[in-house]
Amino acid sequence: MVIDVTRLSHVVIRVSSLEKAKVFYEDLLGFAESEKDGDTMYLRGIEEVTHHSLVLKKASSPGLSYLGFRVDNLSKAEKEIEEMGLPRRTHKEKGVEDGILFQDPAGLPIFLYHDMESAEDVRLKFYAHKGVSPVRIAHVNLVVDDLQREREFFEKKMGFITTEYFVDDASNEEVIWLTKRGSSHEVAMSRSRRSPGFHHETYYVYDVHSIIRAADILASYEMWDSIERGPGRHGVTQGLYIYLRDQDKNRIEFFTADYEVLDRDKWKPIRWDATQRRYRSDYWGRAIPESWLKEWMPVEDIVTGELKGW
Ligand SMILES: [Fe+2]
Repeated sequence: MVIDVTRLSHVVIRVSSLEKAKVFYEDLLGFAESEKDGDTMYLRGIEEVTHHSLVLKKASSPGLSYLGFRVDNLSKAEKEIEEMGLPRRTHKEKGVEDGILFQDPAGLPIFLYHDMESAEDVRLKFYAHKGVSPVRIAHVNLVVDDLQREREFFEKKMGFITTEYFVDDASNEEVIWLTKRGSSHEVAMSRSRRSPGFHHETYYVYDVHSIIRAADILASYEMWDSIERGPGRHGVTQGLYIYLRDQDKNRIEFFTADYEVLDRDKWKPIRWDATQRRYRSDYWGRAIPESWLKEWMPVEDIVTGELKGW
């Protein structure tokens, strides 16, 4: 491993209205606000003691600005990106003085950094927990054109392991799940020509009640259309889930009760094939909404800051 990632750290999401996004993410779902600075808002979960894990950036259309990963050694990572000849530039954020933004082999925008400013620890300040009380960022779900190349990049260069994978009728990989930190997954990737794409980010919550509470809160605010899928249980990763859409159709998942990989060297990736399609994504065998299957967001070009077309 040459880019020694420690974990998935944050996502920067494009929203058309910061005011509406604040209502959805902070007032209703209960993300903790670290800072608001002009057209950008910095949020975090209740267990996160660094400045941000969810950044909302005002933009003309929705999508992913970039993903953030923490690395142990930034200069080593920088050298490797340079040697691979991947498009890159230096970049800083509020709370992060030093980092590199690059485009991975699939064209996904990725930010690497080592040090982020600390934030107040609010875990035990129960009076301050609101809404769903998102705990911490759990994973991102991405769409790429070439899964094998991407799997190789994440495994060999970024130090991830594959926990599960799904193959189609022709035994070609269709979806893969990878982790570095040791949860069921920190990154999931599907194969599509409509790529690079961003499907959703996911926050861990402590229990199934928090998942139901997400639906109750949005329903009581008459945001029924924002409740897209679930509650349910995934076959893959075993997690309990619900998927929500914000006012711009950006998708967020709340998730709990997945497993931990205790020994990376002992883990044998779990194979799912096409005969298990019925209960792979929803263990209870229920149909998946068309919107969930067919809609995902474009990602930004790291040089122009514009969304890439498909
Ligand atoms: Fe997910």
